[in-house]
Amino acid sequence: MSDIRIRPAQPEDIPLILSFIRALAEYEHMEDQVVATQELLTDWIFTKEKAKVNLAFCDGEPAGFTLYCFNFSTFLGRAGIWLEDLFVLPQYRGRGIGLTLMKTLAAEAADGGYGRLEWSCLDWNTPSIEFYKRLGAVAMDEWTTYRLTGNELAALAEN
Ligand code: ACO
Repeated sequence: MSDIRIRPAQPEDIPLILSFIRALAEYEHMEDQVVATQELLTDWIFTKEKAKVNLAFCDGEPAGFTLYCFNFSTFLGRAGIWLEDLFVLPQYRGRGIGLTLMKTLAAEAADGGYGRLEWSCLDWNTPSIEFYKRLGAVAMDEWTTYRLTGNELAALAEN
């Protein structure tokens, strides 16, 4: 049986984090959209502290990660955890690492009194949808994500 360990990332883990981000983007066919750099990630994760990262190790080797931040539910009157990225390297899948990473976030939510653990998943990503359903997660089908970015975001700020 594999030895699975989870620990919070440190600044020296930034190259590993960026490699996981790129690997997930490649899996999602969106690698051309990754403009993150080690410098940006260091600034936003460790200096500005706007996101947190947990790293998973299998028999001492880096195997996967979660990157998350916090949102807020006015209905619940409390903050929640927003999971931005979950990724396990192909060779380590099916050993309980994804489940352990999700359990770690659920425990942080429980310890901190957070109301929800939420994330987005692409419609075609059936393996992950099945994984999430097995955790007891439900799809928020009636909600659509909107995004304002680039020129449109700048234009709105100027006007
Ligand atoms: N279909 C059905 N069940 C599954 C699947 C699947 N494709 N994958 C895992 N499970 C089940 C396992 O059988 C296991 O159940 P059990 O405990 O009853 O045996 C349980 O889910 C946990 O499986 P793990 O071994 O912990 O899952 P794994 O380590 O393989 O990680 C993950 C799952 C993270 C989805 C991995 O497959 C992965 O990295 N996929 C590619 C990247 C990806 O899609 N990430 C999520 C994108 S969405 C986001 O980032 C918010």
